[in-house]
Amino acid sequence: MMKTLVLPCRVPRLPCAKTGAPIRFKDKGARMELSITRPDDWHLHLRDGDLLEAVVSHSASHFGRGIVMPNLKPPITTTAAAVAYRESILKALPANNDFTPLMTLYLTDTTTPDEIKLARESGTVFAVKLYPAGATTNSEDGVTDLFGKCLPVLEEMIEQNMPLLVHGEVTDPAVDMFDREKVFIETVLRPLIEKLPQLKVVMEHVTTMDAVRFVESCSEGFIAATVTPQHLLLNRNALFQGGLQPHNYCLPVLKREIHRQAIVSVVTSGSKRFFLGTDSAPHERQRKECSCGCAGIYNAPVALSLYAKVFEEAGALDKLEAFTSFNGPDFYGLPRNTSKIKLSKNSWKVPESFSFASGEIVPMFAGETLDWLPSSV
Ligand code: DOR
Ligand code: ZN
Repeated sequence: MMKTLVLPCRVPRLPCAKTGAPIRFKDKGARMELSITRPDDWHLHLRDGDLLEAVVSHSASHFGRGIVMPNLKPPITTTAAAVAYRESILKALPANNDFTPLMTLYLTDTTTPDEIKLARESGTVFAVKLYPAGATTNSEDGVTDLFGKCLPVLEEMIEQNMPLLVHGEVTDPAVDMFDREKVFIETVLRPLIEKLPQLKVVMEHVTTMDAVRFVESCSEGFIAATVTPQHLLLNRNALFQGGLQPHNYCLPVLKREIHRQAIVSVVTSGSKRFFLGTDSAPHERQRKECSCGCAGIYNAPVALSLYAKVFEEAGALDKLEAFTSFNGPDFYGLPRNTSKIKLSKNSWKVPESFSFASGEIVPMFAGETLDWLPSSV
């Protein structure tokens, strides 16, 4: 397999973070160790059936909680379905693992305000996901008329303090693939928060400097964003390096280098508005390596190593823990985790693939060597 081109993360810094700040770092001879509060994954695809069984332990071994995406087939549109899905995730967990799935509802044109009340009362649903219809994998049942049909639901979400998680891309085929996030901000997101300033919104998997600027310009506490490892480490060249690279294809698609640099700069500055969301999205190998491959990068096994790499290369390891473990729960109004994990500066090789009953899954950076090894304390 072709080596993935990994870009250096040294970019112009906002407020300067001191390199190697002296918090919880241990330098064991040549080996550096970092002990941080157990992270959560605020954007995660766990799938169902044997794919769920194949992937869940990769997230559960590193993360305390995961915001679980509802884009199954059929989608998770009701609280009852979310409760059942949560049960199947808990059943698939390894023994003695206390990973907590935080469930989400898939917003449609016909979701009712009562469903939002039920979701809040259930104690298992923590957010509602907006997929513009046709934007990405399993989004056919998504929203076609946010400002018309969904307004009463959005108003109820404000009442219930339920965040809206946004896949921020327009679907108009006339809009260039690489501009879909920027156009979404101007035509949907900005008008939405002007209309409903009390609505909590997470702009998921931001990919552009436009999104960075937009989130930074909004009121703190109401608008935040998740950031994936791939949008921090790769630019759009990684899709074409040495031939078409299906395992680097996700949506929103990788962008130009200037956008990647803007995202690295803001997360390593320590901004509280940005937090960890892997968007780990497994697809069976044949569904990626074919004439019409699925969007989605399977990064759960490598995500923490990659985030640590980004912060290390930016000289901002002292800002890593807030990004991985504090900013997310603080935004959602949930307690921070109390247990810790360790990140050791040890080389390890990413497996080429993971086999499961229906095939194989190829992880991000398959076969490559990474520097930071996570383990439970
Ligand atoms: O690349 C992606 N894959 N982006 C999404 O928005 C959905 C995800 C998936 O479910 O595979
Ligand atoms: Zn996603």
